[in-house]
Amino acid sequence: MDIKAVQTSYARWAPVYDKTFGVLTSFGRRQAVDYINSGSGSVLEVGVGTGLSLERYKSDLRVTGIDFSDQMLEKAQKKVRKQGLSHVVDLRQMDARDLDFPDASFDTIAAMHVLSVVPEPERVMSEIARVCKPGGKVVVTNHFVRTKGVLAALERISAPFANTIGWHSDFEIETILGEKVLSVEEQRQIPPLGMMTFLVLRKMTKS
Ligand SMILES: C[S@@+](CC[C@H](N)C(=O)[O-])C[C@H]1O[C@@H](n2cnc3c(N)ncnc32)[C@H](O)[C@@H]1O
Repeated sequence: MDIKAVQTSYARWAPVYDKTFGVLTSFGRRQAVDYINSGSGSVLEVGVGTGLSLERYKSDLRVTGIDFSDQMLEKAQKKVRKQGLSHVVDLRQMDARDLDFPDASFDTIAAMHVLSVVPEPERVMSEIARVCKPGGKVVVTNHFVRTKGVLAALERISAPFANTIGWHSDFEIETILGEKVLSVEEQRQIPPLGMMTFLVLRKMTKS
């Protein structure tokens, strides 16, 4: 998607996201946050959206969220205020292609259902790798294109409509696996219907 389409598409999604796409993707978010809760320290959630995950983080983590869409971010800010989520230390409007954080800032980076949305996902992965501490983890949940079957055909057919629907249905996992400092530690299919992938990458301690 181009960045203008992200803006218009997610301004449209924001009022209805939690009750639509947000429901469909809830298993992946729960899985990712439960995994992150087994660690400690600082967390950056890239593309935090309406903040559906925020209440689930354990209270002694320090969670920062960024998103490009003001409308999605406003929803997240409202949740933080309403629920008094003091572990959420910062929510900022930012482009994931150009993260405004120093190198090695975070112990864990979460990217949930965002990598098939962002323009230039390779550049986003490079930024994620840069701001992750050596030995830190990158936790991803996303839909990746299937290689066979009816759903695979549907994913390819709907691909040209990415700017309208709000994500790339034909997104290939290889797109995000090119960072040399990040190695795959865990990868499995998760609900609904095994359509999503849960992925953990670890940043090398020395480059
Ligand atoms: C499908 S939503 C996922 C939101 C949330 N992670 C979740 O699981 O509910 C994708 C989000 O990515 C955000 N996004 C897209 N491109 C972005 C970019 N370049 N920088 C930051 N956020 C971006 C959108 O604004 C949107 O909130």
